Amino acid sequence: MGVTGAVDAVGVILDGLRRLEYRGYDSAGIVLVEGTGSSGGGGPARLWRARQAGGTKSVARLAEEVSGAPADATAGLGHVRWATHGRPTAANAHPHLDCTGRLAIVHNGIIENHLELSAELRQAGHAFSSETDTEVVAHLLEEALASVPPGSGSGPGPSALAVAVRAALSRVEGAFALAVVHDGEPDLLVGARRVSPLIVGITEDGGLLASDIPALLGRTRHLYALEDDQVVEVRPGSLQVTDLGGRPVEPRPLRVDWDLEAAEKGGYDDFMAKEIHEQPLAVRETLLGRHLPDGSLMLDEMRLSGAELRDVDKVFIVGCGSSYHAAMVAKYAIEHWARLPVEIDIASEFRYRDPVLDRRTLVIGISQSGETVDTLQALRSAHRCGSKGLVVTNVVDSSMARESDAVLYTRAGPEIGVASTKTHLAQIVALEVLALYLGQLRGTLSPDAIAELLDAMRALPDQLEEVLRRGPDVARVAEGVAGARDFFYLGRHVGYPVALEGALKLKELSYLRAEGYPAGELKHGPIALIEPGTVVVGVATRTRLWEKLMSNLAEVKARGATVVLVVNDGDEETAAQADAVCPVPRTRPLFSPVLDVVPLQFLAYHLARSRGLDVDRPRNLAKVVTVE
Ligand code: AGP
Repeated sequence: MGVTGAVDAVGVILDGLRRLEYRGYDSAGIVLVEGTGSSGGGGPARLWRARQAGGTKSVARLAEEVSGAPADATAGLGHVRWATHGRPTAANAHPHLDCTGRLAIVHNGIIENHLELSAELRQAGHAFSSETDTEVVAHLLEEALASVPPGSGSGPGPSALAVAVRAALSRVEGAFALAVVHDGEPDLLVGARRVSPLIVGITEDGGLLASDIPALLGRTRHLYALEDDQVVEVRPGSLQVTDLGGRPVEPRPLRVDWDLEAAEKGGYDDFMAKEIHEQPLAVRETLLGRHLPDGSLMLDEMRLSGAELRDVDKVFIVGCGSSYHAAMVAKYAIEHWARLPVEIDIASEFRYRDPVLDRRTLVIGISQSGETVDTLQALRSAHRCGSKGLVVTNVVDSSMARESDAVLYTRAGPEIGVASTKTHLAQIVALEVLALYLGQLRGTLSPDAIAELLDAMRALPDQLEEVLRRGPDVARVAEGVAGARDFFYLGRHVGYPVALEGALKLKELSYLRAEGYPAGELKHGPIALIEPGTVVVGVATRTRLWEKLMSNLAEVKARGATVVLVVNDGDEETAAQADAVCPVPRTRPLFSPVLDVVPLQFLAYHLARSRGLDVDRPRNLAKVVTVE
């Protein structure tokens, strides 16, 4: 967040950071522009910075450290960081400075082309002091400022800093919400956004920037939401918004009647609803920067060489709960695209069954938290057998990330609801990128095929937005089956893990009996349980075994079950077999779990709420399971 013109800049920033703590973070930092206050005496302004990497104690530690901050500061920036690029250390915490130390930046999002930009900037003599993608923007701004004509920003007319921000952003690809200060224009905050949200608040004699509404609540009623590719100049009591070309645009006022609790949940009733609606962003961010201009794919901390990965002759994937379901989808993708044999295991069973592992085996651990003890121990036992370890996790520097040979991060942001939603979708997407990467290395996929598949993946966030708009329709489907006690979830091929995930969501949230099955298995026993009143939820989008699934569904319908189907848009033939349908857009079969699972999240969510249950904190469950 950023503040200018406030009487107590330090107090306002720290208070704002505390109100953003609910999202979870690993480090925090603040920068103050010295000499801008009433006692500044007109001398040259300077920047004062403090940063702490103390996990959830970071803001409290920062509060202790700022007791030594300049008392006359009336402008500054603060940030709580959830690591994506670079470990959660003080050196990686924001704000980041340029080489001169006169400019500071805070940033949310991902700079997709940061490797290319940092190579260019290092070549030009810039010294980097962090592992973050954000720091490239500080140095780009330094370059851009040096090219701004002298005199800009020293009086009325365009601000030199805003001119530099617009110029620098024309080089940047990816997602950002950023705020910048420079000691040459000490009362000015410049903000800009693309994809990641940024809010502006104006008071009579001050101005505020924040990534989320809670930080600004109660400070002013004059709030504005910045749109994509807009730049805002905030001075005490005023704001000016332009597009990236410098043309003035009218700021969009934001009306907020929420209290702090509602604001933390983004206006939704609970974190789960908020996180379901954050899924397009989670998928978009997980895909950012993976495809380099030369056509190669980029993972995160790939400490395994191409030669080592080409040497792999077998893959095991381990995980628990929703992460295990993501592993199931990954098996289909890796076998199909990379032509490598894949075994999947529930992590708590893996190390007790004496699996055949050697140095040519790649063991992939999937864990949202990176701390689940079953998965951690499974990876450790594989490591002891000499296997290579790769982790897919949402938490940078988690135990699994630290101990593995390679890490692929999902960038879903912190997930607070106990039920996995956005992290599960991000896991599927990350694992499918990994499958493409292995296909590329092994030469089983052509560059054209990879580019085509990535195009289809990049369409997923917009398709997810469409599925989210249909949430109220699923609420009506839920009303129709609200009295039922027994649910079966059926799917085939990649629809099977979706069925398991749907059943898991229903069990954990609504405490209703729900079983997930591969539909072809039903006739080998479970069909005996089907009777009038049983609800059968089928994942009936057009994947490979659709026809066979339809025959299996006819069998349950003939026995009186109420049939609810996830179907593709416009598929009347499938819809005609159902008592109720949840349509989703079409995508390639291997990507369909990303869309198909969302109506099932909604179904579980609405059934739980209709039973008066707390969807964020279901009974008997913990978000991170650190016991065996
Ligand atoms: C799913 O909604 C649950 N939260 C649970 O099954 C979870 O996926 C499992 O405990 C694994 O957690 P992890 O991904 O953090 O390892």
